[in-house]
Amino acid sequence: MGIVKVHDKSFETYLTEEMIQARVKEIGQSIAEDYKGRKPLFIVILNGSFMFAADLFKHLDVEAEICFIKLASYKGMKSTGKVVTSIGLDEDLFGKDVIILEDIVDTGKTLHNFLPKLLHQQPKSLRIAALLHKPEATEFKLTLDYVGFSIPNKFVVGYGLDYDGLGRNLKEIYQLV
Ligand code: XMP
Ligand code: MG
Repeated sequence: MGIVKVHDKSFETYLTEEMIQARVKEIGQSIAEDYKGRKPLFIVILNGSFMFAADLFKHLDVEAEICFIKLASYKGMKSTGKVVTSIGLDEDLFGKDVIILEDIVDTGKTLHNFLPKLLHQQPKSLRIAALLHKPEATEFKLTLDYVGFSIPNKFVVGYGLDYDGLGRNLKEIYQLV
């Protein structure tokens, strides 16, 4: 709790570990309920989503698969507007119930660009679970099926999220002061 410094910037606690863990557990329970008997495939968008995905997966009382891809559009604190795929998808999505796990939806550009590529493979269904959503920043229309927290349009770090590579190991989520 309190203030942390990451690189040159100060951040203050915004969501505590207890709040995050309680909400992640709730999302896990809702997904398990919604996907009973269906064996969903989770696609985790690296790097930021690794902690959310690991905690959520532990709370999933349903058979499920998980795989990871790497997309990035951020450099420092600004979206570059260009989404680069550096680890591709090697799963066949045809006929599968797919759930994307994303740490944060900001402008929406990352998912907006990526969704058509997934839909092209004709999954049976496709849903999005995002731990954080910045509704004021969203420019690209997306339907988010599961959202942990709607947050103001301020840069955040911690719980997997970074500022230029650092801050990911914090158990809480911190907001730029
Ligand atoms: P878009 O704008 O494409 O952005 O929806 C999604 C990706 O941008 C990163 N992002 C952040 N990372 N603190 C971070 O550490 C933030 O406040 C933030 N906002 C966006 C993140 O990687 C996300 O997947
Ligand atoms: Mg990121």
